[in-house]
Amino acid sequence: MTYKEAQKLLSEIGQSHVLSFWGDLTAGERKALLAQIGTFDAASLNRCRQALSMPEAEESNSTKAGKAPKVAQLKGPVKEKCVAKGEAELRAGRVAVLLVAGGQGSRLGFEGPKGAYPIGPLTGKPLFNYHARKILALSQKFSKPLPWYIMTSEANDAVTKKCFVANKYFGLDPKNIMFFTQGMWPGMLSDGKVIMQSKSRVFMSPDGHGGLLAALSRSGALEDMKRRGIKHVFFFQVDNPLVEIADPAFIGYHAIEKSEFTLKLCAKRDPFEKVGVPMLFGNSYRMVEYTEMSKEQCLKKRADGNLYHLYGSPAIHVFDRAFLEREAGQDMPLHLAFKKIPTIDSKGETIKPSEPNGYKFEKFIFDLLPKARKAAFLAFNQEDEFSPLKNADGDDSPKTCKRDMMAKWRRVLAEKGVDIAQDAVFELDPVKFIK
Ligand code: UTP
Repeated sequence: MTYKEAQKLLSEIGQSHVLSFWGDLTAGERKALLAQIGTFDAASLNRCRQALSMPEAEESNSTKAGKAPKVAQLKGPVKEKCVAKGEAELRAGRVAVLLVAGGQGSRLGFEGPKGAYPIGPLTGKPLFNYHARKILALSQKFSKPLPWYIMTSEANDAVTKKCFVANKYFGLDPKNIMFFTQGMWPGMLSDGKVIMQSKSRVFMSPDGHGGLLAALSRSGALEDMKRRGIKHVFFFQVDNPLVEIADPAFIGYHAIEKSEFTLKLCAKRDPFEKVGVPMLFGNSYRMVEYTEMSKEQCLKKRADGNLYHLYGSPAIHVFDRAFLEREAGQDMPLHLAFKKIPTIDSKGETIKPSEPNGYKFEKFIFDLLPKARKAAFLAFNQEDEFSPLKNADGDDSPKTCKRDMMAKWRRVLAEKGVDIAQDAVFELDPVKFIK
């Protein structure tokens, strides 16, 4: 893009201030700024501006009318049927694994991608190791590659790939791993002007895990899935070391239900747990965020004493590939986050705000839920499959993840008659115990 083209585009979209310090910039800075402007998409920027004037309109709607969904519990012969179906799909090579790992992990405060966090209680192996080794175990068990699509962001793509290379892809064949990056969006002040992080750079942040759909399409990953004959796409987040990747019962349940979007749900640890809660409104489901629920709604009980809205979503899903393809070209709702964003003043001096000063824009993957022609919900046991790595200390921290990983492995070993001392620090390689 040339200076003149940039000037024209910015004036059309009301962002001419981006070039205010052009005269002060070096040749390298000018080149970088033009390249950044070249990534701007006028339609998306206009959507962001419009979203500022009607913040979170959809979310202020009452959620009182929301009904709890029917959540399946698999047991006995029904479970066996689902497992058999899931195993058949895995054996036929119709399953892919999709990981979103583009987040910034700001709460954890770890230098580097969350997947590289040394979570192994004994060896300090990275979180990616546990995901990769489960995928390897399944591909060995079913004698079929399980293609793995990994979404990164501009900020962590190179270092994520470096972690895979340094660890020899954790034993996987790199031909079956595809990295792709999510989009970035500029931050905006409340007047709709994009935020300058320095004289030569607009502040940009990742477009949320809902940026996945556009990124899958742009990168050719959806096309690659189609070429490989993939039908079911298992989706998970990078920060859950306990996740049961492409669990055959879950895949089988999704396939038998002919669902487009199937969600694993677990009973909330307490009525106010910070997880999304799926609800039925009329004929369609929507994920209701915990911030949208009133105290009464959180505490509402069933006749049996259980919470009415008992189940929350830890973002473990199976998607029908064709559903992702159908939705990839559609706009998703924008969510706004009001944050402290470093910027510059009229003289170009850096300002580090002490209060939120600007908006970041994100799309959320669960906004696909109302679009599914058929959705299904499956209950699972939180202690077996969900222990997220979110914070540096306290709940959902490295300490609780390691504790929960070892507790799970202890249960697995106890079933095989092996007892491990309560104070032992140890590890299991998923390749050795998924058989
Ligand atoms: P979180 O919402 O927990 O965000 O992401 P985070 O970036 O990991 O952590 P904080 O909020 O900054 O502390 C849930 C999942 O979604 C992915 C993350 O990598 C994680 O797997 N994600 C999030 C993306 O892939 N892209 C995004 O833009 C945001």
